[in-house]
Amino acid sequence: MRHIFSASTPASTTADLLVLFVPVGGLAAALADLDAAEHYAGAITQLASDEEFTGKAGQSLPSPGLGRISARRVLAIGVGAGSDTEVANAAGTAGLEARKKGARVVALSFGALSNTALRGALEAFAEGNYRFDKYKAAAARKAAVEQVTLLGVAEDTRAVMLAEAGIAGQTLARDLVNEQPAECYPQSLAKTAESLAGDRITVTVLDEAAIKAKGMGGIYGVGQGSDRPPRFVHARYEPATPARAHVAIIGKGVTFDSGGLSLKPNDGMLTMRCDMAGAAAVIGTLRAIAAIQPNVRVDVIFGAVENMPSGNSYKLGDILKMYNGKTVEVHNTDAEGRLVLADCLTYASELKPDAIIDLATLTGAAVVALGDWYSALYTRSDDLNGQLQHAAADAHEGVWRMPLPDLYKDKLKAEWGDLKNVGGRAAGSITAALFLSEFVTVDKWAHIDIAGPAFMDSPLMHYVAGGTGTMVRTLTRWIERLGE
Ligand code: BES
Ligand code: MN
Ligand code: ZN
Repeated sequence: MRHIFSASTPASTTADLLVLFVPVGGLAAALADLDAAEHYAGAITQLASDEEFTGKAGQSLPSPGLGRISARRVLAIGVGAGSDTEVANAAGTAGLEARKKGARVVALSFGALSNTALRGALEAFAEGNYRFDKYKAAAARKAAVEQVTLLGVAEDTRAVMLAEAGIAGQTLARDLVNEQPAECYPQSLAKTAESLAGDRITVTVLDEAAIKAKGMGGIYGVGQGSDRPPRFVHARYEPATPARAHVAIIGKGVTFDSGGLSLKPNDGMLTMRCDMAGAAAVIGTLRAIAAIQPNVRVDVIFGAVENMPSGNSYKLGDILKMYNGKTVEVHNTDAEGRLVLADCLTYASELKPDAIIDLATLTGAAVVALGDWYSALYTRSDDLNGQLQHAAADAHEGVWRMPLPDLYKDKLKAEWGDLKNVGGRAAGSITAALFLSEFVTVDKWAHIDIAGPAFMDSPLMHYVAGGTGTMVRTLTRWIERLGE
């Protein structure tokens, strides 16, 4: 998707779809140019009046070009009071509508926009335009947008560059999540990370034998049951100029979660190819920052495993020796993500970054608590919480801070090992976070349980069903700011 600034007027812009963003109270101004067009005069204002379109957020008004203006179709969309979020949501809807019509060239006519609003709107437009249709018959596919022509905004090539970087990273993450588990497995995920290696990015991959030799008993134990061996991946982005900060971002990379011997029922297993969405998001973030080149050293870490039942699976009652030396008694092989993340968190802690963030589709309990829009954010650092809330707000992604009380730690006490891998039904997302905290030795750490937002079972807002690439844009913004 390329973005082009144009000085032409809406009526004279050639496009498959012309989108007008209309605030409440700004209808006449937004439609003025079309209303003045010779053979279209007054038509759209008449239609707006007939359809009671006033520019309220959520309203949209399609209208045909009829060969009387240069665009084939027009879509007026309400942006309410015109806040950044309202504009982004409207842009998301426009992206979705453009895809439904198979539009290849789309012109977006905004009012005045800040550079952060423009960036967010272009990202949302691309989000709405996304489909994963590679397995569909050609006749059933609709074309994606190839060119976005920007009207009425100041030429801001940096905002466009940032948006294009975010879009590329998020789209990569979505494609990885949506890919069938027959094609997306630990080695392939490691290969995708390796494909990002370059001037400023180095990638190290440990195979199964190296994982075992290093003592990463969590990753090794979970990976044991699969014919597809696990991988541990560490990629590093090193800026060209001295780094102003150093962070580690970690993702859960369970390429398929059958539950293992604690096998999931059919419906719960159906979408468990999404269980590597954390790894996909950190890979996507790496891709975005490779383009943006922030002044921050970034360590990207994930354990990639397939959780499968077999004659070689880890078992209930097994006691795993983790990378930090602690022993974990296995009470449920479906609580596998925390075992994989634990070793990654220890490894990341050894690198002594200023902050660590892990992303994981960790618990069904997080979905029960917060649904598909909000990720559960756990951190003991008010400062890190503030930074992430700020970044998420700019990225138009939902995060909600949850408590991390030591009071519940007792639930993880084991009979024979140091810890057990489940803490009971109550507060399941919190006890999972507390489990992770046992493997972190840096002060600034945040765990984000993305089990809800990572994957939509049915469409929500401008997201189609499937992977969303959630948190790529939040993490990218967070990292950028640390480098400023
Ligand atoms: N990958 C799942 C969590 C999940 C559920 C992600 C729904 C996305 C949507 C995780 O590995 C899991 O199975 N968690 C268990 C933990 C339990 C056994 C303590 C869960 O949430 O039921
Ligand atoms: Mn599981
Ligand atoms: Zn899982």
